[in-house]
Amino acid sequence: MTETLPATPEGISRAAALLRTGALVAFPTETVYGLGADARNPGAVAGVFAAKGRPAQNPLIVHVADRAMAEALAVFDPDALRLARTFWPGPLTLVLPLRPDAGLPPAVTAGGPKVALRLPAHPVAQALLREFGGPLVGPSANPSGRVSPTRAAHVTDGLAGRIAAVLDGGDCNVGVESTILATGEGPVRLLRPGGIVAERIAALTGPLATGGTDPAKPVAPGQFASHYAPAARVRLNAAAPRPGETHIGFGTAGPFSLSATANLEEAAARLFHVLRLADAATPAGGCIAVAPIPETGLGAAINDRLRRAAAPR
Ligand code: TXA
Ligand code: MG
Repeated sequence: MTETLPATPEGISRAAALLRTGALVAFPTETVYGLGADARNPGAVAGVFAAKGRPAQNPLIVHVADRAMAEALAVFDPDALRLARTFWPGPLTLVLPLRPDAGLPPAVTAGGPKVALRLPAHPVAQALLREFGGPLVGPSANPSGRVSPTRAAHVTDGLAGRIAAVLDGGDCNVGVESTILATGEGPVRLLRPGGIVAERIAALTGPLATGGTDPAKPVAPGQFASHYAPAARVRLNAAAPRPGETHIGFGTAGPFSLSATANLEEAAARLFHVLRLADAATPAGGCIAVAPIPETGLGAAINDRLRRAAAPR
């Protein structure tokens, strides 16, 4: 049985107590729900990979309560410090050299020398991290490769029976995952577009590098071409639906519109929920057609997720 816990002081202390036993507890962040587990407990970390069906070579993001907790885990170069001071707490993840004394089991970083760190802005995530008193791994709380969760019911749809509890903090207000950056080797590198738009980062650091250092490898280990996949097929840049298709609109009204007013913040916040609704409304073998979304601002993160949702599987 998976418990749904209210985001009250009692619910948060129950969640922290479960986490201390090594159990898995999903929690809300401003981006999407994370699948929380004690980042220093090898059994708990293994449980996260098992519950998600996540490949072992795909490392986990570690969530921290404050900068001091982050600096105990990784080495911050000047760019990383500047970015953390500017954008934390918030939807930014920094990939940094792991400290040898970090105390994290190797599975967290998939055996690699770098760790991804994030200090979330959501008050419930912050309260949980403080109450737990240590770092929590937190991949998105969905089965690997499927649509990310932005409300507690999305988490139980995918993971009920496989995790101890979900802490219900309502809807996530950003709605797309954090922006992932790597620093310390020349220009700051954008590994995944996300909730902090690249334009704001570049204004601080100068032009961003994109793409991986090795063109044969995915940019971030988890950035597989097919991801965020609904059951239905997905067709992009569809100004209008073809007969039988479910249409996800942008700048038009309708049951599956991302934003009637073409507002990118609203579209990002609704993206994963609308994908789930459209999927449920599409008969087996059917197709979801998605209106074009501008590539500016949060549109970059929205289009990244939509391209992966539409990629061949
Ligand atoms: O907004 C978010 O980032 C959410 C919330 C829950 O915090 N979390 C999230 O986690 O999106 P996940 O596991 O779904 O995506 C994490 C991405 C994966 O693509 C993974 O490969 C990449 O981060 N990643 C993790 N550790 C890394 C590392 N050491 N180096 C490069 N990429 C890493
Ligand atoms: Mg994910």
